[in-house]
Amino acid sequence: MTQDDTTLAALQDQAKTRREIEATITQMFAPEDEGLQQALVAAKEAGMPEIQISPIQGKLLQLLATACNASKILEIGSLAGYSGIWLARSLPPGGRLITLEISPKHAEVVRNSFARAGVGDRTEVRVGKALDLLPQLEGEAPFDLVFIDADKPPYPQYLEWALRLTRPGSIIVADNCIRHGKALHAPESPDENLAGIFEYNTRVSNDPRLMSLALAMDENYTDGLTIAVVRPEKR
Ligand code: SAH
Ligand code: DHB
Ligand code: MG
Repeated sequence: MTQDDTTLAALQDQAKTRREIEATITQMFAPEDEGLQQALVAAKEAGMPEIQISPIQGKLLQLLATACNASKILEIGSLAGYSGIWLARSLPPGGRLITLEISPKHAEVVRNSFARAGVGDRTEVRVGKALDLLPQLEGEAPFDLVFIDADKPPYPQYLEWALRLTRPGSIIVADNCIRHGKALHAPESPDENLAGIFEYNTRVSNDPRLMSLALAMDENYTDGLTIAVVRPEKR
């Protein structure tokens, strides 16, 4: 075997180990129930792109919502309701998830998926452009957790709204914040998606009101969530 062959074999072995770890953690800590599986089937049947969060991300969202005692959750970008089901399942009785979705077709699928998963009573899908809907939420704030997962160029504006609509101790999470490392640098060639996410990461990592971390956990550890906690007010 040449040196190249040995290196290749070692890399393939590492990739396999990573896949096995992810699969085993999913099985052990984040198994999907029927409601979640049906949301995936409904998404496929509706011809949606397969861009839902992973089960591990879903479980982490639940864990964060539980850790901050969330009873009011806001999601930006619903798709077929997969992440919304994970989030809604963490709510206590009387809790509420509001999810914003630009596509009326997606919203219809989401409502059906929520109903099938048994979370129809505590969820609300609002249809429209998120930047138009967010100002209408001020009367319903503060939210305990905000999950950002819609179009990428306005991520910095979504952050501004998230800060306005939360309280000290709330948690703000955004998906797709690593992008093979490309969302951690200023884009080398113009790319409005990467530029939006990079600006988001730059702001959350520097904002004194937040304590934050980008976590590689998805797509074979090349993408993931940036998690930010709104710091308690200084006394
Ligand atoms: N959170 C979902 C995936 C969301 S995919 C999950 O993990 O299950 C992104 C969604 O954002 C799509 O459904 C898309 O239609 C929606 N979207 C895109 N631009 C938007 C905008 N400006 N306002 C609201 N929703 C938007
Ligand atoms: C895309 C969007 C997402 O929210 C995601 O998780 C993956 C991909 C996209 O628009 O390509
Ligand atoms: Mg996403």
